Amino acid sequence: MTQPTDFPNLQVFDHPLIQHKLTWMRDRTTSFRAFRALLTQIAGLMVYEVTRSFETVPVEVDTPMTMTTGRRLASSITVVPVLRAGLGMADGVLEVMPEARVGHLGMARDENTLKPKAYLNKLPRNLEAGPVVLVDPMLATGGSASAAIGMLRDAGAVDLRMICLVAAPEGVQKLLEADPEVRIYAASLDERLNDQAYILPGLGDAGDRLYGTG
Ligand code: PRP
Ligand code: URA
Repeated sequence: MTQPTDFPNLQVFDHPLIQHKLTWMRDRTTSFRAFRALLTQIAGLMVYEVTRSFETVPVEVDTPMTMTTGRRLASSITVVPVLRAGLGMADGVLEVMPEARVGHLGMARDENTLKPKAYLNKLPRNLEAGPVVLVDPMLATGGSASAAIGMLRDAGAVDLRMICLVAAPEGVQKLLEADPEVRIYAASLDERLNDQAYILPGLGDAGDRLYGTG
């Protein structure tokens, strides 16, 4: 289940399994191998709630016993990880929704200006054809996410939602002002950003912790 927050664009997951796994991810002694596995697992758990409002259509199906009517997803779904750290979440989402198309957006935050620099934009065609799910574990200043959302809107995305792991109030507010239609799902709404725009308490640099860099 998700918990309403003071932000109309944000839902936070209070599921005990998600909270348990997130706490291991925050722990500085957790290895990058374990961190990667936990991120994949959490994304897989979150996807059920995120996709709850996806439309389905009735289809006839011939079981070994008889004809019956089942339901299938009405349109093609696109998952878009923000590189690098979003890749760790996309794996978990794709385990549950292997038929989804995948777009990639490469975005690196300049640690001096804190502005994102886009270095890759590889998206499927016809994004307007169905729901688009943006995935990135960290929503800090919101600079990367708002740039990514702008690129997805330019490419035609209409039904757009974002899954992150840890969100800072500053980032949620920025997205609320930039594009209030985008629903954000997070495992935690943390306290604030520090002077270097890292999330507190957060979990450090997600890309470095995922891939053992830094
Ligand atoms: C991290 C994270 C987000 C961004 C969030 O990526 O995965 O994309 O920072 O910060 P913001 O909300 O202030 O823009 P980073 O730029 O460190 O790149 P990486 O995933 O390659 O490490
Ligand atoms: N990017 C991260 O990986 N972590 C933060 O806390 C902020 C931005």
